[in-house]
Amino acid sequence: MMKRRAFLALTGVSALAFGVRPALAQTAPGVLRASSPGGVMTVEAGVDGDGRPIYSISRMGRPVVTSSRLGYLLTDGVALERNLTVTAARPVTVDDTWEQPWGERQFIRNHYNEWRVSYVEKTALGRRFDVVFRLYDDGLGFRYDLPEQPGLKTVRIAAELTEFNLAEAGDAWWIPAWEWNREEYLYNRTAIDQVGSAQTPMTVRNDSGLHVSIHEAACLDYAGMNLRRSEGRSFRAQLTPGLTNAAVVRQAPFTSPWRTLQISDTAAGLVDSSLILNLNEPNKMGDVSWFKPMKYVGVWWEMHLELKTWNSGPKHGATTENAIKHIDFAAEHGFGGVLVEGWNIGWDGQWFANGSDFSFTECYPDFDIEAVTAHGRSKGVQLIGHHETGGNAFHYEQQMDAGFALYERLGMHSVKTGYVADAGGARVAGPDGSPVMVWNESQAMSQHHLRVAETAYKHKVAVNAHEPFKDTGLRRTYPNMISREGARGMEFSAWGQPGNPPEHEPNLVFTRLLAGPMDYTPGIFGMETRSPGGVQTTWAKQLALYVVIYSPIQMAADLLVNYEANPGPFQFIKDVPVDWSDTRVLNGEIGDYVTIARKERGSDIWALGAITDENPRTLSAPLSFLDAGRRYRAEIYRDGPDADFKGKRESIVIEQREVTSADTLSLALAPGGGQAIRFVPLGRKVRR
Ligand code: NOJ
Ligand code: CA
Repeated sequence: MMKRRAFLALTGVSALAFGVRPALAQTAPGVLRASSPGGVMTVEAGVDGDGRPIYSISRMGRPVVTSSRLGYLLTDGVALERNLTVTAARPVTVDDTWEQPWGERQFIRNHYNEWRVSYVEKTALGRRFDVVFRLYDDGLGFRYDLPEQPGLKTVRIAAELTEFNLAEAGDAWWIPAWEWNREEYLYNRTAIDQVGSAQTPMTVRNDSGLHVSIHEAACLDYAGMNLRRSEGRSFRAQLTPGLTNAAVVRQAPFTSPWRTLQISDTAAGLVDSSLILNLNEPNKMGDVSWFKPMKYVGVWWEMHLELKTWNSGPKHGATTENAIKHIDFAAEHGFGGVLVEGWNIGWDGQWFANGSDFSFTECYPDFDIEAVTAHGRSKGVQLIGHHETGGNAFHYEQQMDAGFALYERLGMHSVKTGYVADAGGARVAGPDGSPVMVWNESQAMSQHHLRVAETAYKHKVAVNAHEPFKDTGLRRTYPNMISREGARGMEFSAWGQPGNPPEHEPNLVFTRLLAGPMDYTPGIFGMETRSPGGVQTTWAKQLALYVVIYSPIQMAADLLVNYEANPGPFQFIKDVPVDWSDTRVLNGEIGDYVTIARKERGSDIWALGAITDENPRTLSAPLSFLDAGRRYRAEIYRDGPDADFKGKRESIVIEQREVTSADTLSLALAPGGGQAIRFVPLGRKVRR
């Protein structure tokens, strides 16, 4: 028998009027409560008068989420949402530190109190589930744990009832859910009570200044979660529909993804948090040392500018000659990889309408993959694979093993995948094995992306998915999931109607990028494009994005001629590190500006990036992150006095000065501008 003392029983919480769900704090003394290790976050959980599971969250005594429902509706007409009794175990403290194989930090502390709350139906069925909370000082996650039990074997979830009733008024930054272009939307900023249906991460700033970002972690074999505002500041989890009337079908035992809230006094604190990664399981794959973080160039931007084509014909971009030209450029300037899109057969029809013509092993006749990769090997440059699927996961799965085997044989250790589809859906195998359409973030697609990662791993290939399933930190468990798109990338500055406005990147940092790395593809110097207004940043901001936006692969996305013509600013792109041992967020406000400093892994070099929206501003950057008592050469790339995203975008000042950790730099940013700095220690040998 379980030790009585280890449990706080809460049955028959005061008699409450039907339909009224007061905050649990009002139910004291029987209330169940647990806090984070430093006592910053507190959760209360229990049941209301109808035996419905509820929880609430407070931070340092101040409500963040008021009494909100938990539970499930199942498709067989029964619900796991009322007539429940509740008990809770005593919280268990965990404090460990783990190492990332690559990342924005080398070591991550994982310090939380885990609290298991158990719900059991009072009915004869006696079905049960637990809600497991992990309380950190910088937020929390909770998930449903469905144990093995006789009364519930196959769990068909029609709807998840989790609510987030936000306590305070404020502003929200969000992109719409259920739209055809998946995650590629501009961010809305509205009052919290004006949000519609939002994707996550959705970030809010309360009127008191508290910042909260709602997302999920470890979404595996499950439907993605969106947030639907029901009324006022109340949101409900909305699972992406599946193949049947159940959004999720699982066999017990299983756990749901974590529902997460990162909570901080400052916007910068959200970026500093490692909560999403911490809530994922440790590395299950094993060694990924065959993948090296790198910068790359590619046969890419020229297609987006319509100078070349993916399809065959006189303007075909993926020719042997063009690929070799890029490899030679990469070798000369120290880039590790070359991406070549349009190399494989299948681009000539309506590929984004069906995706069924793609071959993942056969080249167009003017692209000799054997010769290109042999040339790359002789120069120490890898060809980066490309698998556009047109959203046809069904078709892709039949060939992906052969596609990865080809890459393995040719020494190619990474692939960019893509799921562009006309109406934003995807095709997977239906119940009878023939293809059916599903949502991009359905359970079937979450299974697909895991199969891709596992198959790729077998062949020592790392995956950078475009039009992906949202990032929920799976790179901790599956570290060949290196990066992804999942937002409007730089490509929108090539042809977007509209393009990405200057506030886009400072929006991304505090929303999408809280989820994980993004292959944003910065580094554009040719500012006139097919998009009205062209690229809406200064050159200095393009450089700063290499530090601000984390990804273990970073593209130098522009045409090679633009780099050859501008060796001064190009030098920063060549020099900036791509793998880090430490990251510090010096300042920031959502959608306005941010300054991030990062230390290169394996050396004492630091880099700093600062970016602003359409407003010019001067930011203060104390250099206290540098080693005390050491001198550094600061290689500064800053906006010229007349720089402006609407005018002289190329106006840049490149200068050097000596600094120490005692200095504070004043960073003057132009409208739509930025600043990039590399700090190289002087007087001691730099290990590289
Ligand atoms: C969309 C991707 O985001 C882009 O990078 C790629 O070039 C096209 N799909 C074609 O695959
Ligand atoms: Ca895209």
